[in-house]
Amino acid sequence: KRHLISAADLTRDDAVRILDTAEEMARVADRPIKKLPTLRGRTVVNLFFEDSTRTRISFEAAEKRLSADVINFSAKGSSVSKGESLKDTAQTLEAMGVDAVVIRHGASGAPYRLATSGWIDATVINAGDGTHQHPTQALLDAFTMRRRLIGRDAGVGQDLSGKRITIVGDVLHSRVARSNVDLLHTLGAEVTLVAPPTLVPVGVDHWPCEVAYDLDSVLPKSDAVMMLRVQRERMNAAFFPTEREYSRRYGLDGDRMAKMPEHAIVMHPGPMVRGMEITAEVADSERCTVVEQVANGVSIRMAVLYLLLGGNEPAVTHTRTEEK
Ligand code: CP
Repeated sequence: KRHLISAADLTRDDAVRILDTAEEMARVADRPIKKLPTLRGRTVVNLFFEDSTRTRISFEAAEKRLSADVINFSAKGSSVSKGESLKDTAQTLEAMGVDAVVIRHGASGAPYRLATSGWIDATVINAGDGTHQHPTQALLDAFTMRRRLIGRDAGVGQDLSGKRITIVGDVLHSRVARSNVDLLHTLGAEVTLVAPPTLVPVGVDHWPCEVAYDLDSVLPKSDAVMMLRVQRERMNAAFFPTEREYSRRYGLDGDRMAKMPEHAIVMHPGPMVRGMEITAEVADSERCTVVEQVANGVSIRMAVLYLLLGGNEPAVTHTRTEEK
């Protein structure tokens, strides 16, 4: 059984194959009928123990575009509030005959546990676990960078060799930063993290990236700048940075954005806190890819589901079948 638990598990060829398959899936979104028959008769459960807007909705859209039967489970309003464990919840779903479980959980390692415990027989896809990993986010980010920095057609088959990516903000609590550092390194990009010293994780010197503290000096050398949200919900209130001080040193406003090369893009995984890490002027600018990232997330999740659960035929075969 194959799973997607961590961006670090992907080889360069795996990652490029997912990005290329996502380009084929994106063609489905451009058509009037946005559907392929690939997962007809397969059941996917979206098991969300933590809040989500983008990831939950885009997995559901991807599953439906591949014709899967979709079951949505949210811990709020379920028997988890009565004390039911992850094991019992998962086995309850397994008894209903699911083929794949897409799981978001506040505990780092929960998807790995589900995939390796023997509790269930389904494919497990990590939709974000604690501060650990969010592999489909890193894939959709890499897809967005490849399209914007290389080109939609020119990018096919390519990695991100030589591209300079800067990730800014609350790295300590960010599964998005961890996943991106792993995947971008695999794809040949050079990554620099910029964060307040209190929000840099212990052990970062073993990560395949540079660490800097002065955003203004890094911006002119960046092809993409990814802003992170300060995750107050994972912090003790005593450690909250003040909004004014944080945005003065680590926020991206119009003046700072002007220091970036002309071709460089601004990214954000969402949800954004406008005024804290990014001003409205930057968030709404042409250079900001936040909405594109969401659209690309559907294509990436279709590609991951197709490659993990789909048949052996190439995606284009299904596209042609659908068009008949
Ligand atoms: N980027 C992201 O994971 O957003 P959600 O928490 O809304 O899914």
